[in-house]
Amino acid sequence: MKALAYFFTTLFLFSVTAAATEPIKPIPRTISYDREKAELGMVLFMDPKLSSDGTVACVSCHSFEHGGADPRPVSIGTHGKRGNANAPTVYNSYFNFRQFWNGRAKDLKEQAKGPLHNPVEMGMVTEDIERYLKSSEYYNEKFRKIYKKSPTHDDALDAIAEFEKALFTPNSKFDRYLRKETNLTAAEKRGYMLFKTLGCATCHNGINVGGNSFQKMGLIFPYPWNEKVPDRYSLTQAPSDKNVYKVPTLRNIALTAPYFHDGSAPTLEIALKKMAYHNLGFDLLDEEIEPLVAFLKSLTGESPSILKKDR
Ligand code: HEC
Ligand code: HEC
Repeated sequence: MKALAYFFTTLFLFSVTAAATEPIKPIPRTISYDREKAELGMVLFMDPKLSSDGTVACVSCHSFEHGGADPRPVSIGTHGKRGNANAPTVYNSYFNFRQFWNGRAKDLKEQAKGPLHNPVEMGMVTEDIERYLKSSEYYNEKFRKIYKKSPTHDDALDAIAEFEKALFTPNSKFDRYLRKETNLTAAEKRGYMLFKTLGCATCHNGINVGGNSFQKMGLIFPYPWNEKVPDRYSLTQAPSDKNVYKVPTLRNIALTAPYFHDGSAPTLEIALKKMAYHNLGFDLLDEEIEPLVAFLKSLTGESPSILKKDR
């Protein structure tokens, strides 16, 4: 009940202030990052030798062809092991207030330790990582140049985090609309209105249209709970934290199907219907889904410039 009261107070305050300020902020056009570190981080991100059986790299589950996310409902790690969650996008993850579905990592550097060591993802121990990096002429040279010493696990995490910082996707049609550089179609505009008036923006707001609070999946009508999911409950053991997750970003959402922590919604239409039912307590009409999808598509940004060959 407390969560509900809090939610409706927020919804109320939000509707009162929404007219004055837009709930969504554009992604900055540029972000300063260390180019050399980020390029080293990109090589590490794509290197399958950083996994115990030499087959899985970060990019295996965070695909640049799929908006930085995984097209499979749940990820598959080394030796074909299935995980329990859908891989969220790494694009714009720098703007999230915490990392992982349950926010267990405070930043990207801390996050990167997770998959490297997770036995169902890359399954490596620190010593193996350092031994491998030190055995490579390329890495030795790069780490010495950038970090002034031979490769360490900690510096590898630092470089990966710097690369992820560079994975931002500016200049979406919607951001250009916010900056008054372009206009939206009638459908996109209506979708944005619905997004605000139906209450989506109470949870999905800020630069990442999400990524800045924990909320319950199934706030109004409960969503099935599975003890293996990485929710807040798995960290706190508080019953009210079951199915509570970091609100995912809706940036580039048209590219990152399937949806939800369990990858159970194969299309945006299905995800929106479930979201409105479980978290707002009503069924969306078809004539609402169409404009909402049009609006969400306008959140697709430019692909990160660090990935472009002709940059
Ligand atoms: C086997 C698949 C797999 C591999 C390999 C993998 N990830 Fe992930 N990644 C996931 C899954 C699944 C999650 C969500 C897990 C959770 O929240 O409990 C995730 C979450 C993340 C997040 C958090 C995003 C957010 O919004 O919370 C980041 C950042 C990330 N991974 C980066 C990396 C990096 C860097 C590497 C390589 C060192 C990597 N991943 C390797 C599957 C993978
Ligand atoms: C009470 C907070 C809340 C409200 C209101 C809400 N959402 Fe969500 N949304 C979430 C949470 C939490 C998740 C993650 C759920 C999960 O993975 O199980 C989510 C997930 C999503 C996803 C899937 C994202 C992904 O990457 O998997 C979409 C799309 C989405 N919401 C759109 C909407 C739209 C459109 C509305 C309004 C009709 C809305 N949401 C209202 C909290 C909310």
